Formats: sequence, structure tokens, C-alpha cells
Amino acid sequence: MSISLDRGHLKGFAEQSDIEAIADNIQKVHEDLEHRRGAGHEFTGWTDLPGRIPDAQLDELVALGEEVRGHSDCIVSIGIGGSYLGIRAAEEFVRGGKIPIFYAGLNISADYHYRLLEQLKDRNPTVVVISKSGTTTEPALAFRIIKDFLQTKYSGDELKKRIICVTDAKRGALRTIADDNGYRSYVIPDDIGGRFSILTPVGLVPLALAGIDIKSLVSGAREGQRLYSHFDLDKNIAYQYAATRYLLYRKGKVIEVAASFYDNVFYVLEWWKQLYGESEAKEGKGIFPSSLSLSTDLHSMGQLMQEGLRNMFETFIDIETPDHTLAVPDSEEDLDGFNIVAGKDLDYVNTQAHIATASAHFEGDVPNMTIKLCKGDAYHLGQLFYFFERAVAVSGYLLGVNPFNQPGVEAYKKKMFALLGKK
Ligand code: PA5
Repeated sequence: MSISLDRGHLKGFAEQSDIEAIADNIQKVHEDLEHRRGAGHEFTGWTDLPGRIPDAQLDELVALGEEVRGHSDCIVSIGIGGSYLGIRAAEEFVRGGKIPIFYAGLNISADYHYRLLEQLKDRNPTVVVISKSGTTTEPALAFRIIKDFLQTKYSGDELKKRIICVTDAKRGALRTIADDNGYRSYVIPDDIGGRFSILTPVGLVPLALAGIDIKSLVSGAREGQRLYSHFDLDKNIAYQYAATRYLLYRKGKVIEVAASFYDNVFYVLEWWKQLYGESEAKEGKGIFPSSLSLSTDLHSMGQLMQEGLRNMFETFIDIETPDHTLAVPDSEEDLDGFNIVAGKDLDYVNTQAHIATASAHFEGDVPNMTIKLCKGDAYHLGQLFYFFERAVAVSGYLLGVNPFNQPGVEAYKKKMFALLGKK
């Protein structure tokens, strides 16, 4: 049960000897991270988080999930950015829990939220409102709307038990709302930023309520912590990935296209885009993280990948053992000529498509590598979450930026608040 990195299509771009040539730099940033002395070190609580999560806390959350599912047939998760993407990534990756999660506060669209209320009309939801700052526009407005809606259905203790807050221990409007109303609440640690928070109550609470296997998720992340927290460039594939990206960036490959032939990886890549975009892109530096859903996008973006501007590299995410097999039927007429694969598993064809794409793109000057997960389950996702977190910390430090802040996201907010007349 593990993750591996296939660096098969990097010849001439980022070879093992190139990684060895920057080993001293990697060792330095590794030590800065380990000893919490690099830029933004006050937000590196995630580095040893998996090992610090008490089993008793996981048991409590699992029990809370059972209790909630006793009176609720769905969860509404309100949040955006780091308070949304990891939850959705996990729910979609494992293809759902015992009850569905609906998402609110991920945009400011009236149509989206109107339709959400329509979907909730005949349901009995429990709402988890998640905001570290407690002041973010989207979840604040969505919480008002959803709370209004809940009040049309419930009152008193029945209403109270259906609202759970995940926020800062002391600061922010949501903390005040939770305390003043006696809502059940969970704390987001101060030393973990939004995009690194999936294994805090931000992710664990809504996932546990939905009945997703948070114990396996955390167990995979603990294995990730064990495997990717040491400086051994031959064995630490998170550091190999970080170093490879950095080397490719120095050769002008300024766009990373993360692509998967597995549909349940889609939101993992949305989560990954925030993690990498917000962590690395500052001071005029950083790789632009983008994603493709394959083989769908080969029929739309395939041309660009094969023959467009050669400023990109590709990272495939592969799931080696799918949950199901599905044989291709034989056809008497064979008009489409696909009897060549009749009787074979559909995923055999998927795998050949991946091999062919990786090879064709490499020949088209798009170096690429593949992160392989044995299975598409919560355990491997936990490991992958940690893999990507560890790697972005290292690649951010290699670039010479603080990977743990996001000063750029304030600019539009100032203008928007001025337009709205908000103090
Ligand atoms: O990474 C970040 O800090 C942001 O994307 C936040 O996660 C996002 O803005 C939500 O913030 P909050 O949890 O404070 O509402």
C-alpha cells in the first residue's frame, strides 16, 4: 500500500544527476522546514500534524458522525478555498460517504444558492460552517442564507444541534456566533494555514459527519509523514517531485499541468492548484498550476499539449488498482474495429491511453512524470495530501519565497469592500 513516483519522461530536462547537483540546497531547505526556522515557520504546524492527532479525537468524530446521521440525511459544508477544496477532494475521491455533502459559500452566486435551497427543501441537513478567519465574505453570506432557511424548518434545540462551527479558538465573527449561540464548535490551530488544513477539524469534521473513513485518511497521512519528512533523496519521492519541478521551472517550464485518467482525482487537483498556486506564486515567481481531466481533455486540450508553446511540464496521477473491472464486449460486426480489446478490462485501455499520452507529450517536448497510487481510497489520499504539502514547502523554499503566506489575495477584497461600503 503506497505511492510511487515514475520519473520516466524527464531525460534531458531533470535527470537524477541534476537533482544530485542541487542536493545541498534541498538539504538546507529540509533543515529549515524541520527546525522551523524558514520563512513563515509559524505556519508549519501541519508538518507533524498527522502523528499528533489523538486516536481518541478520531473516535469522538466518528461517534459524532453516527449521532448526526441519526437525525440528518445530508451535510451542508459552508466554506471556500482551504475551508472547502480538501473536503470536496476527499468526498469525490472516495466517491462519497454514507450521506451526501452539499457545498455552500464557495461562490457568491444567487442562482447557485437558490438551487441549493431548493435541493435542501425536503431534506434534514446538518450544517458545518468553516472559516478560519471567521470573516470571509462567501461563507459569511452563505451562513446567513442557510441559517435563515434552517429557521423555517427548525427552532430551539432542534436548530442548535444542526449547526456546527469550525473556526479560530478566539478570534473572528464565527467564534463569537458559535459561543453566543452555544453551537458545537471545533478549533482550527493557529499554526496551520487554510490550504494545509485538511487534516484539522476543517476536513475531519465534515468528512466524519458524512461517514467518510477519516481514520484511514489520517493513517495514510501518518505514513506520508513517516515517508516524506526525512532527507534521503533516493527514497523521499516528495522531495524528488519538488526538486524535479524546481529544475523544470529553471529551464523555462513555468506551467505544471496535473492530469489524471481517473475522474475521482478531479477535485484533488482543484485542491492541489490552491496549494501550489498560493504557496509558490509570489514576488513575480512560481509555477502556474493547471489541471486536465483525461481522456476527456485530450479531445479539447490535446492539441495544445502536443504542439502549443513549450513552456509546460505534466504530472500524471495514476490509480493502479481501480475498484471495479468492466470487460469490453465482443461485437459480431466489429464495425468500430475494437474487437482487438474485446474481453479485456476497460481500464486496460485507459492504461494504454496514459502510456501513449505520456510518450507522445514527451516526444512533443513536454517532460512528464507520474505519481502512482496503489488504490483510490482514503488511506492513499491521506498519504497523497501529505506528499503534496511536504513537496510544496520544499519547492517554495527552493524558489526563495515564503510558501505559507498569501499576501496577494487581499488586493481584490479591499476593492470589493470599498464598492460594498464595508468598513
Ligand atoms: O489559503 C487560504 O488562506 C485561503 O484560501 C482561505 O482558505 C480561504 O480564503 C478561506 O478562508 P477562511 O477559512 O478564513 O474563511
